[in-house]
Amino acid sequence: MAVRTITVTPFEGQKPGTSGLRKKTRVFRQPHYLECFVQAIFQAIGGAEGKTFVLGGDGRFHNDQAVQVILRMAAGQGAVRVIVGQGGILSTPAASHLIRLNGTDGGIILSASHNPGGEEADFGIKFNMPNGGPAPEAVTDAIHVATQGVRAYSLFDGPAIDLDRLGTVTLGSMEVQIVDPVADYADLMESLFDFDAIRGLFQAGFRMRFDAMCAVTGPYAKGILEDRLGAAPGTVVHATPLPDFGGMHPDPNPTWAHELMAEMMGAEAPDFGAASDGDGDRNMVLGRGIYVSPSDSLAVLAANANLAPGYAKGLAGVARSMPTSAAVDRVAEALGIEAFETPTGWKFFGNLMDAGRVTLCGEESFGTGSDHVREKDGLWAVLLWLNILAARGESVEAIMAAHWARFGRNYYSRHDFEAIETTKADAMIADLRGRLADLPGLEVEGMTIAAADDFAYTDPVDGSVSRNQGVRVVFEGGSRIVLRLSGTGTEGATLRLYLERYAPGPDGLGLDPQEALGPMIRAAHEIAGIAGHTGRTAPDVVT
Ligand code: G6P
Ligand code: ZN
Repeated sequence: MAVRTITVTPFEGQKPGTSGLRKKTRVFRQPHYLECFVQAIFQAIGGAEGKTFVLGGDGRFHNDQAVQVILRMAAGQGAVRVIVGQGGILSTPAASHLIRLNGTDGGIILSASHNPGGEEADFGIKFNMPNGGPAPEAVTDAIHVATQGVRAYSLFDGPAIDLDRLGTVTLGSMEVQIVDPVADYADLMESLFDFDAIRGLFQAGFRMRFDAMCAVTGPYAKGILEDRLGAAPGTVVHATPLPDFGGMHPDPNPTWAHELMAEMMGAEAPDFGAASDGDGDRNMVLGRGIYVSPSDSLAVLAANANLAPGYAKGLAGVARSMPTSAAVDRVAEALGIEAFETPTGWKFFGNLMDAGRVTLCGEESFGTGSDHVREKDGLWAVLLWLNILAARGESVEAIMAAHWARFGRNYYSRHDFEAIETTKADAMIADLRGRLADLPGLEVEGMTIAAADDFAYTDPVDGSVSRNQGVRVVFEGGSRIVLRLSGTGTEGATLRLYLERYAPGPDGLGLDPQEALGPMIRAAHEIAGIAGHTGRTAPDVVT
């Protein structure tokens, strides 16, 4: 057996989006497609020679074969060692942790996150840096450039590795270390949170439901919640990761996690509910009869993080993506710490965490995390909530009410319009951008526009600039709408419309968000001409 070199023609469109390269599974299964992208990753990071990587994915269809291909390529190109999750499985936060724990030269994660999996659904791949975080734009751009020039790749022509057996084997001269995907991650969680207090909560009869949506967090949630923390057996449902996620759309939001929503809003609702996504980095949390919006969740976690041992010394600072509500900014102000506003994409938090400027980060897109890894982390957020619930001894509903009474409430919602024809969506955004300068002063729905711009971000650590990150229209009084096109879809364009209105209280804190945001919704449609451009009058998903 030897190293073989295969000549190829570059593929068009291998351009990483918000979070790596995502395409239909069938696109990835074209001969040499995955290989060309992996080759571009290796080229962009100066080759695989002498390097150590972490490798794993969320177990979706094609995960197993892709892992074998990448192992053969790494072995053929001189990598020293690859740490792989058993069965080729690693949640995204667990992969990030393994990169950091083992000081590797980075890692390759196979996932299309919350997108459905299967032969006719989606697949994805991304590279994470030695700090455990998603590659920043400079690197993803370099990968994209490299994809355009790939002419050949080499691989070690060896047998498939048995990934189910723990331990170390060799492939050519490369070591393949197959590790338990859960153990190190669970230890990390145990080091951050008061497991005794949470155990006490469950012992006292606290009931929880965790919906793993047939995706990667099943074994993690069972191992931690049921085995280590003593939650009742069966607390975790849809706990077995399946290649097609059992037909579920593993996106933890009210639309796709509707089974959990129904249970939590029902008469028999447990005290706490949570769900995670395909690769385990997103979370949705609910109390009995109450949905916690991700922006509010971030704010509550920031305000109460000191109750968990891992954060007892306080937070260095917090960061949120621009479309995320400003609820956490109010907490930061009260705590006297810095608050940063970044573009959408977890990769933008990496520098701030590496520089020690922020401890907690979050996004409206159901992502919350801290500097314990460099990815957002679904189960981490759930455990921090549990720690807070145990420490405060109050219900989710009571905690939310107290939070809003103290800080005021940022009513918030996101409306998604999916699978719009790309040309129409682009035209709508271009048209809006062209009119931004004319908007201030206009009155819409009884509100006056105070400012309008296209968000640009200068990274305070490395000075890099990212432009065109979303159009924001701010009204007098601080209410705002934000529009941007998703960077994670695989079919046409998805328009995201983000709506926010601040209510200082004490009155008017208990409204239905869609009602509280009614004028903003109408104003957004009027200002952007959504129906005229796209033919859409109502969103497909509301979060
Ligand atoms: C992924 C990224 C997040 C991002 C989300 C939505 O989960 O890791 O950082 O917020 O996608 O991105 P999109 O471009 O689809 O709005
Ligand atoms: Zn994800």
